[in-house]
Amino acid sequence: MAEAALDVRHLPRAEAYRLLEDQGRAVLQGVADEVTAMATWAALLHHGLGFLWTGFYRVVEPGQRLRVGPYQGTLGCLEIAFGQGVCGTAAASRRTVVVPDVHAFPGHITCDARSRSEIVVPVLDARGQLLAVLDIDSELPGTFDAQDGRALERMMAWFSAERARAAPG
Ligand code: SME
Repeated sequence: MAEAALDVRHLPRAEAYRLLEDQGRAVLQGVADEVTAMATWAALLHHGLGFLWTGFYRVVEPGQRLRVGPYQGTLGCLEIAFGQGVCGTAAASRRTVVVPDVHAFPGHITCDARSRSEIVVPVLDARGQLLAVLDIDSELPGTFDAQDGRALERMMAWFSAERARAAPG
């Protein structure tokens, strides 16, 4: 089995993401199971960077409904409609949403009252279909910016590229 989870909180954010991405890609080599992969990315990011909540909402009804998947943190709400909250907004638009202050985001869904800022990144499969969204919450305001978005999008590209290689067709 692979090495212990990295703690990269002391590093500049770009380098931290790069190390976590390398570790994730190494651990998941040859893996095609998306739940295994989601659990692995959630654990790496959560413990690597010390976030409040890190996990996935999976598309269970395309264009309609998300349901919670593998995550780390306190109890997450189970289902979110497309267009609702930060996750539903990212799912409906298929775009990364950065929320520096959750109290200023209309319709934000509060799962853990300690959450102050949030980022949600769409996860696409090899066919370009929306598979899930990655949701990360922080206890501090303004934790995420466009740079975090780009790093996380690159990480989530694992689902459209590497996973497809592990499970051709
Ligand atoms: N805050 C999210 C809901 C999910 S929890 O934070 C885990 C939202 O507004 O979509």
